[in-house]
Amino acid sequence: MAEAFNDLLLPADKAQRYAAVSEEIAAVLAGEPNLVARMATVASMLAAAFDHYFWTGFYVVDPGKREELVVGPYQGTLGCLRIAFGRGVCGAAAATRTTQLVEDVEAFPDHIACDSRSRSEIVVPVLDARGELIAVFDVDSDRLAAFDATDAEALERILRDTFAAPDGGAPAP
Ligand code: SME
Repeated sequence: MAEAFNDLLLPADKAQRYAAVSEEIAAVLAGEPNLVARMATVASMLAAAFDHYFWTGFYVVDPGKREELVVGPYQGTLGCLRIAFGRGVCGAAAATRTTQLVEDVEAFPDHIACDSRSRSEIVVPVLDARGELIAVFDVDSDRLAAFDATDAEALERILRDTFAAPDGGAPAP
């Protein structure tokens, strides 16, 4: 199921594939302001498009707690429910608001192993249009060093376009 979705054949080149999926995400979400729907769609479409994705989803900033993430829409095996800022890879991304690219999770101090099959991961902070951190986007792979700068740049762009655009999610006039 990683070859295509909605009958669209995706390019083999990773950067081109990200560009194609990005267009599809924008088309599907046009006019949909609901954050859960937007996050669920991003997680579903990216997970379906890439073979190197094993766990794909959001940890959202819990508005009721200080500096704590709670699991949001995801695709994959059971994820941990809560992660404090500063803990594990997701917590590091939230605390520093920078993308974390981890080639070998066993070499990352304090990595949280929700599924022992995860070997490498990338976590990208998600900001809203006001520049506030609303979530982190976490992708784990069952392969070592599965992610590189192409994944980081593409995911940062998709998340910015989807959640930080001035009219992101606004219903069409
Ligand atoms: N790997 C993450 C924890 C979340 S799960 O893997 C789904 C981390 O160390 O932040």
